[in-house]
Amino acid sequence: MTDRYCVFGNPIGHSRSPAIHARFAAQCGQDISYEAVLAPLDGFAATVAQFVAAGGKGANVTVPFKEEAFRLSTRRSARAERAGAVNTLAFDESGIFGDNTDGAGLVRDIAVNLGVSLAGQRILLLGAGGAARGVIAPLLAGRPASLFIANRSADKAAALACEFADLAAVDAGSFGKIAGCSFDIVINATSASLAGASLPLLPGIFAAGSLAYDMMFGKGETPFLAQAREEGAVLLADGLGMLVEQAAEAFLVWRGVRPDTAPVLAELRRQLTA
Ligand SMILES: NC(=O)c1ccc[n+]([C@@H]2O[C@H](COP(=O)([O-])OP(=O)(O)OC[C@H]3O[C@@H](n4cnc5c(N)ncnc54)[C@H](OP(=O)(O)O)[C@@H]3O)[C@@H](O)[C@H]2O)c1
Repeated sequence: MTDRYCVFGNPIGHSRSPAIHARFAAQCGQDISYEAVLAPLDGFAATVAQFVAAGGKGANVTVPFKEEAFRLSTRRSARAERAGAVNTLAFDESGIFGDNTDGAGLVRDIAVNLGVSLAGQRILLLGAGGAARGVIAPLLAGRPASLFIANRSADKAAALACEFADLAAVDAGSFGKIAGCSFDIVINATSASLAGASLPLLPGIFAAGSLAYDMMFGKGETPFLAQAREEGAVLLADGLGMLVEQAAEAFLVWRGVRPDTAPVLAELRRQLTA
């Protein structure tokens, strides 16, 4: 019997998750199917219930349902509790288990695929939405020298910093508050690039040899990465690696086996640049 999985989102037509999981399944010899499911904005819980009733074993969750998925989960991993958002669901007779693999995906992409250690680094996280929230604890676990959260709405950044204050001292504020500071790793977790907008980045924020990481990806350079290159960042990375790594972590949760992400990431990269 083929086990069914899916990704819920709205919109969902652009999702690369079905292609990624199909490759993982083939590589690991797992008999699964994986589809993209468009959930109505006011009908997430009902859509999940239908999928479970039809025999669904698990699902990924993307924009805008990660917080609703958190509330729907009857049990949650510690990292999902910390993030306050769920991107991975597993269904069994005991209920709905919620996990969050976004942070693990980002950290693995930076540390393993890009070969950049977080330890001792000055990190700047741009944005204070769901994606930023999910990666703070995993970033702090890498023992950076400092973490600054900058956001257009400074109060949201400050609230996030408070939430994680028990893990480490986290600074926060507006984009203007980082004037005069430089960072070794700058991560764009805003959705500005989605709208093609650039960020009000002050000159000098990229330290010598720094990494600029945009969680977004697409054909060609994102506006943030173009800005970072002009401002002197040496290493530029988009979020394709994070997407593949968070998917591998979800596959591990569901199937108990971690796929080799390198060939899948290379194939997706070829398709994106073709
Ligand atoms: N690669 C991956 O696997 C992966 C995984 C998760 C997310 N992502 C990406 O991460 C990004 C953020 O997603 P999210 O779920 O966190 O979204 P979200 O919850 O809607 O948060 C959006 C954030 O972007 C900021 N923002 C939006 N437009 C801006 C602009 N023009 N200038 C400055 N700041 C702006 C918002 O600031 P305010 O608070 O001031 O509104 C907020 O901090 C998206 O591009 C998403 O595709 C990628």
